[in-house]
Amino acid sequence: MATQNGRPTLTTESGAPVADNQNSESAGPGGPLLVQDQQLLEKLARFNRERIPERVVHARGAGAYGTFTVTGDVTAWTRADFLSAVGKQTEVFARFSTVAGNLGAADAVRDPRGFALKFYTEEGNYDLVGNNTPVFFIKDPSKFPDFIHTQKRDPYTGSQEADNVWDFWGLSPESTHQVTWLFGDRGIPSSYRHMNGYSSHTYQWTNEAGEAFWVKYHFKTDQGIAGLTAQEATALAGLDPDSHQRDLREAIEGGEFPSWTVQVQVMPAADAAAYRFNPFDLTKVWPHADYPPIEIGRLELNRNPRNVFAEVEQSVFSPAHFVPGIGPSPDKMLQGRLFAYGDAHRYRVGINADQLPVNRPHVAEAHTYGRDGHLYDGRHAGAKNYEPNSANGPVQTGRPLWAATEVSGPTGDHAAPLHREDDDFAQAGDLYRLMTEVEKERLVDNLAGSLAAVSAGRGDIVERAVGNFRRADADLGSRLEAAVKQRRG
Ligand code: HEM
Repeated sequence: MATQNGRPTLTTESGAPVADNQNSESAGPGGPLLVQDQQLLEKLARFNRERIPERVVHARGAGAYGTFTVTGDVTAWTRADFLSAVGKQTEVFARFSTVAGNLGAADAVRDPRGFALKFYTEEGNYDLVGNNTPVFFIKDPSKFPDFIHTQKRDPYTGSQEADNVWDFWGLSPESTHQVTWLFGDRGIPSSYRHMNGYSSHTYQWTNEAGEAFWVKYHFKTDQGIAGLTAQEATALAGLDPDSHQRDLREAIEGGEFPSWTVQVQVMPAADAAAYRFNPFDLTKVWPHADYPPIEIGRLELNRNPRNVFAEVEQSVFSPAHFVPGIGPSPDKMLQGRLFAYGDAHRYRVGINADQLPVNRPHVAEAHTYGRDGHLYDGRHAGAKNYEPNSANGPVQTGRPLWAATEVSGPTGDHAAPLHREDDDFAQAGDLYRLMTEVEKERLVDNLAGSLAAVSAGRGDIVERAVGNFRRADADLGSRLEAAVKQRRG
């Protein structure tokens, strides 16, 4: 390497030494600049291309590496290799995020938090792309772009508008459970370390014998749940917009490694048809009395990324990244997500996103016939790029990763089937009735504060929203109505 006084010589991208990095080449000392100044042109052009499209949701986030350790025997339910023995450890990359804000938004806001995990297993990468909430706002993927449009900036004002947010929620009563959760005490976590994570969806586990089970994952924070009040969050968001990101990095730098106790709820496949709730409805939880959480592992984060852009911005997680023994459920939202993420990655990072160091398998090896595309690194050299072949190329196993599911009935635009206790309000009401009196007061205050921002002429939006909470719990409805009236007059 060429050096100047012991320091490396500055070069162009193609490696030629740079003579002057402070003064551009001009025609005479006071004249216009020259196109032959390759250093200037390359520098300006590269700078213009530093950004890639931010994630359309969950743009704002922070990541860290760590370890998952199995602490409970789950071999009766899944043949996943990384879960096959108590004590087995797997490297993990986690990314936590807010949903609605753009890349530069503040962390301390009322919004669900993403809880995305990549397990670098011996049988390929397994991604579990969850949230800090056990449920979600909607139950059909066709509603997702509309929902997110109401959370993002209005096409006319360029700001998030309470009218849009509450119009959509009021007209989507299935959101009542998640909205009750979001405006409660857990709605603004004090940091990424002080929140739980959930798969939210039901997934399928399949054991060695091919038997299927339905599971939900819970990651319980060992730091304890801690939240911010609306006032605390407003102050913190102004003082330190990067509060959550900074907290995670500094904790890990200081050797204070955050951890989570991992649990699963397991439902035998045969229970699903007669269960009192549709077990694949993302707006519902499985009450713990029905399916108690069982401890299976421990997640610890203990290493910061070295480069945020390379490892956090370019990281890609997909609910479709399964490993043998784990698969999807018929949850319609999950089914939509199986497509959406890979598509987002191809657009946002490119067709070779899974070859980047943070995304590629770390223990397993990828052997595919997929080739070329932008930034292909030539890893397959001259190996045959077609199948079948007689050139000793990679071959299929013939063994499905997960068990088949029974389906019946005609194709069509069907709503998710309702089980005997399914409605849009019962679990929201249960959640409210579980709260202490002061928690109820804060919930009503938070909801009323947000509803009060709806335009004066759109009382219909407010009434519809309050009506949904009234159907969840009469007391919640009347308290909310009074609190909103007090604020709006
Ligand atoms: C049909 C419903 C949904 C669709 C279409 C959808 C779509 C997307 C898309 C396109 C991204 C950006 C991906 C990227 O650019 O890399 C994303 C990110 C994310 N979504 Fe969803 N999403 C849906 C529902 C959900 C649900 C229910 C959860 C949680 C249970 C969730 C959790 C996340 C997380 C955590 C991220 C950020 C991943 C990361 O850190 O890179 N999403 N979603």
